[in-house]
Amino acid sequence: MNVNQKLNSCYDSVKSKIGDFVPKVALVLGSGLGEFADEIEVVKTVSYSDIDGFPQSTVEGHKGRFVFGKVGDVPVVIMQGRVHYYEGYSMHDTVLPIRLMKKLGSEILFLTNASGGISFGAGEFMLIIDQISSFVPSPLIGSNLDEFGVRFPDMSEIYDKALREKIKESAIKVGVPLQQGVYVQASGPNFESPAEIKMYKTLGADAVGMSTACEAIVANHAGMRICGISCVANLACGLSDNPLTHDEVMEAANACAPMFKKLIRSSIESFSGEL
Ligand code: HPA
Repeated sequence: MNVNQKLNSCYDSVKSKIGDFVPKVALVLGSGLGEFADEIEVVKTVSYSDIDGFPQSTVEGHKGRFVFGKVGDVPVVIMQGRVHYYEGYSMHDTVLPIRLMKKLGSEILFLTNASGGISFGAGEFMLIIDQISSFVPSPLIGSNLDEFGVRFPDMSEIYDKALREKIKESAIKVGVPLQQGVYVQASGPNFESPAEIKMYKTLGADAVGMSTACEAIVANHAGMRICGISCVANLACGLSDNPLTHDEVMEAANACAPMFKKLIRSSIESFSGEL
């Protein structure tokens, strides 16, 4: 099956399970941040394992299902767990869920992740204002999917300015301190070396992670409006004396969860005027 055939087959499978529900906002929940999906008005859940051909999330802390429902009056689809390039999937498979959520009707993509802090420390939230994806292959390599967008898409404002303003206003409203900065995607699964972190810092990155940028590229190609928040789970390698572990990332993300949930809920509710 080629990329389009696989996508269409996943679409048919999900569509048959959700009927006429049309999500307007797609939310991807990063490592340790999945709890938010348990607190919305749920209409339907669809496990990735029940979708033929859909890439399965193999990472601890990622549940592996779509949750369809409402946040305030906004119809949403939430990915409770994403798939990562480092799990061994092709870039096309890694971003298939994003295209699927667009095809289901989503106009806005809200990306979240846990990251290593270059400019910020553990427990801080960073509104993503731009990204560096040059260290992973573009998900748009291969035949262009004309149904979604053009061969050479512009990337001058990947993260939508108006949505960023809404999120900043929401952060003030719910009393959550919010930094802003540039996210760089590394391939993972190994954490970076101190020299790599120095390089990323020199290049202008404020936080590093193993997801998100490739998802933002396909979404931008497909004409979605994108926003993203990174939850800094640890100081990036070399910026503290501690060796990094996934458990530490999960623990920090769990600790961020209550504030994170408040910020996400308030932000999504504020998008209702944009839809
Ligand atoms: N590096 C890359 N990805 C991450 C990190 C990190 O330090 N922490 C959480 N995700």
